[in-house]
Amino acid sequence: MIVSPDPNQKGVFISEKTPSQSHELEISLLVVFILSGIYIAYELLAEPAGGHPFGHSLGIVGTLLMLMTEMLYSLRKRTRLLNWAGPVRVWLSFHIFTGIVGPFLVLMHTGLQFRGLAGVSMGLTAVVVASGFVGRYLYTALPRSLAGAAASRRELINEVRIIQAELSQFQAKKSAHVNQVINELSQRHAQRPPWLTILGRSYFQRQFQRQARKAIRQLDSIEKSQRQQLERLLTRNRELARQMDMLETARRLMRFWHVLHIPFGLTLFFSVAVHVTATLYFRAGLFQ
Ligand code: HEM
Ligand code: HEM
Repeated sequence: MIVSPDPNQKGVFISEKTPSQSHELEISLLVVFILSGIYIAYELLAEPAGGHPFGHSLGIVGTLLMLMTEMLYSLRKRTRLLNWAGPVRVWLSFHIFTGIVGPFLVLMHTGLQFRGLAGVSMGLTAVVVASGFVGRYLYTALPRSLAGAAASRRELINEVRIIQAELSQFQAKKSAHVNQVINELSQRHAQRPPWLTILGRSYFQRQFQRQARKAIRQLDSIEKSQRQQLERLLTRNRELARQMDMLETARRLMRFWHVLHIPFGLTLFFSVAVHVTATLYFRAGLFQ
């Protein structure tokens, strides 16, 4: 029987959740799809443009969502104020949701006209959102604790040790053939540059999982529940090896990425403030 890792030991808290298990992108795209439907329906009945009350209201709601995107996640991540309000990863999901839906509402409000400073604001918004997608992919390359804090190399090594101890325990009293299959699946032959591992990690992991499942299915000398457990251990073992490879490069890329995403976001709000001031000053849109 396989012994579960001691939950008090450091390292076992590293989240096994994969990016595909967070659904913020699907939900955001669904909302964007519904909003597009409303926009098209409205266009058939009236003519939306920045100056029209409908388009103008979309701009205001979108900007509010974008302000929430800018502030709430940082508040949760960097202060203790919202510690009571769930894990950081959930706040990042919300950040991504408002960071997609907000800019989309603003886009609808522009009436697809991009002149002057307002056009520049929209361009900056597009850069921030596009860089967000890249950041999300990098963010999920870094192993994290269940609370969302980035895991250290030491924590990873601890978890590798635990998994390997479990594998050795599993191998005891198993036939030579079973041991040979386990040893083969535990070894990593591919030597890839870390950036390639980061880019292709989901594909490589799925490929390994398929290969492991196929090999383990043929081990009919062990029970089904043990086969499942073996598959879990081997896939986690491979995932951890990959995370160790990627750790330093992913951290460096993430630091570099912050330099694009955050200052562009701040510049964007500065230019929007000018656009909104001009709207108020010239009594445009809803303020006529
Ligand atoms: C991220 C936030 C925003 C961006 C990127 C943005 C961008 C734009 C763009 C690109 C246009 C079209 C300009 C053109 O005709 O070429 C526009 C129009 C307009 N925006 Fe915004 N906007 C934002 C938020 C707001 C907010 C919060 C307000 C109101 C308080 C507002 C009020 C207006 C008005 C009244 C127009 C129409 C001007 C006209 O009649 O041509 N915008 N905006
Ligand atoms: C209006 C649009 C957006 C704005 C203004 C914005 C702003 C920010 C800010 C200020 C941070 C830094 C948080 C901190 O470390 O304190 C951040 C982080 C981040 N954003 Fe955005 N963001 C936007 C949209 C998006 C989108 C659409 C995505 C993903 C598709 C995204 C993904 C991320 C990621 C992955 C982080 C890094 C999280 C971390 O290192 O803890 N953002 N964003």
